Amino acid sequence: MRELWKRMAAERAAQEVSRGMVVGLGSGTTMAEVVKILGKSRVRATFIPASKFIERIAKKRGLRLSTLEIHSDLDLHLDGADEVDPRFHMIKGRGGAMAREKILAKAARRVVIVVDKTKLVRRLGKHAPVPVEVLPFAVGPIRKKLHEFGKPMLRVRSGGRPYLTDNGNYIFDLKCRQLSDPQKLERELNAIPGVVENGIFVGLVDELVVGHEGGVSVFKSGKEMAEFL
Ligand code: 5RP
Repeated sequence: MRELWKRMAAERAAQEVSRGMVVGLGSGTTMAEVVKILGKSRVRATFIPASKFIERIAKKRGLRLSTLEIHSDLDLHLDGADEVDPRFHMIKGRGGAMAREKILAKAARRVVIVVDKTKLVRRLGKHAPVPVEVLPFAVGPIRKKLHEFGKPMLRVRSGGRPYLTDNGNYIFDLKCRQLSDPQKLERELNAIPGVVENGIFVGLVDELVVGHEGGVSVFKSGKEMAEFL
């Protein structure tokens, strides 16, 4: 069921892309669906992928790729999310690409987020921990500091070695004691020396595309989404 909701939302989100646009592509399984649909549509746009994972799929599907060095302003950024709340704040980074995703979102004129309805929450932190990308050199002091916010777990690969981001860094998944002020938490986490970025996204969503049992809904504000919840 969830896979179908995801695909329906992906179909709708792909329609946001038109000829000549420069478009950021976030990472994750929902974005993989969007990229496959864009490949079939053969739309003549230029795309900047947030991860090696999504870059591979985009290349295979024949999308024209570029970089932020060449295009520093984007018309649109398309992305998935792990949780979205009624203020349109998000937790992202289950796929480990949140640093590049946040850079792309901030460089874009419009940000469209694509999810199935299981990602909608009344309050952030319901299911998802907050991913925090850190320099491997700083792993010890950062782990100690993160205990002030909750319970940090170093993300590991199968075999037990630390998971590495596309930037060559580690990730702590932080189960927060409380997440009532995401803006403050985002700021405080990023102020720790050695933290590269965290998965809290505040005020970056222009439109939310949600797949659910009744079809697809597009919300332009958290208030609209809250009525649906
Ligand atoms: C990757 C992300 C993804 O957008 C998020 O994890 C959602 O992934 P999926 O579509 O697979 O549920 O933030 O860094």
